[in-house]
Amino acid sequence: MAWKETYSGGSAEAEEIEFRGFADDMLRLQVKQREIAGVTALDRAFHAKSLLAVDNAELHFRPDLPADLVTGFVQPDRKYPAIVRFSNGEGRVDRDDEPDVRGIAVRVKVSDHEEHDFLATNFPVSHARNARQFVRIALAATEPTKAAQAMGLVKLSFQEGPFEVLRMVKNAKQARRKIDSIALESYWSRGALRWGPTLAVRFTISPIEAAPVAGSFANDRDALSKEAAARLAKGPIRFQLSIQRYVDDTKTPIEDTSIAWELASTPNVPVATLTIPQQDITSPEAGEKVRVINAMSFTPWNTTDEFRPLGNLNRSRKMAYHASVALRNTKM
Ligand code: HEM
Repeated sequence: MAWKETYSGGSAEAEEIEFRGFADDMLRLQVKQREIAGVTALDRAFHAKSLLAVDNAELHFRPDLPADLVTGFVQPDRKYPAIVRFSNGEGRVDRDDEPDVRGIAVRVKVSDHEEHDFLATNFPVSHARNARQFVRIALAATEPTKAAQAMGLVKLSFQEGPFEVLRMVKNAKQARRKIDSIALESYWSRGALRWGPTLAVRFTISPIEAAPVAGSFANDRDALSKEAAARLAKGPIRFQLSIQRYVDDTKTPIEDTSIAWELASTPNVPVATLTIPQQDITSPEAGEKVRVINAMSFTPWNTTDEFRPLGNLNRSRKMAYHASVALRNTKM
């Protein structure tokens, strides 16, 4: 079956007007976070704290790529330089040993004119079916007190229905976990994207060697970045990039990011290896690179039309990331 997109409000134009409102809501959320944190500089609206950021990674496509996946920059045995940033999901810089979602952003540099960003988080599905749910629950969660957050959820129950709110809260609870190492997690795109002229896929980035945790950093607010540093001092970190193909709208929906694409319906097909080489990331030079990478903006829309993101939640990200970047580091 061929995939298709369905626009909220019936047309791309109607949906874009709705998304403009959501982008404004995200800006309000960013400003609110700044007020709560009592700081004057603004960071990313989400994924503010970097856990590892390097500019010398490599993405190597497999020599035995299935023929239908060979398209554009995806060519057998081709290697590309990549920038990688791991992060905590929160919009404020917090302790690493708290429950949270973790993210990975990979920028694959094909040429001076072509690059592809892959963004993923360490839970297979989004709590939100669509952008509207995503923004509404984010606003409720960013209220400054527990009481205000509870009121926000009550309001949300009227807007989305109590069962939807329960589903989202349960999902968010499962997704926000304490973890031991960013190198031992799998990261899912959650949303779909095009893969060449005909295919739609979701992707997963998962560890290749599941070596034990490198060192003990209990009760350390920077536990995950220190663990990653200790690991990289000893050897490379390697991940596999896999894709799942779209099958049909029931098993592999494009518009609803809360539904998992089950492996029984569409198995993972390994396509590339992402290697972060062994290195010392505690040096002043490495620290300077982290500052440069943190100032960059990764977005799933930094790609070509052949690999563009699909689905309601993904379409809304075009404006939301742009707005977040524009507001970053403005003075109050
Ligand atoms: C499909 C589910 C999603 C995934 C897998 C995802 C993943 C990520 C990741 C990994 C980052 C960190 C990027 C970096 O290191 O710079 C990020 C940042 C961000 N995300 Fe998402 N995200 C998702 C959905 C959304 C949605 C629906 C919105 C809003 C409508 C959103 C808004 C943002 C914003 C504003 C940033 C910060 C952008 C910046 O200032 O650079 N995300 N996301």
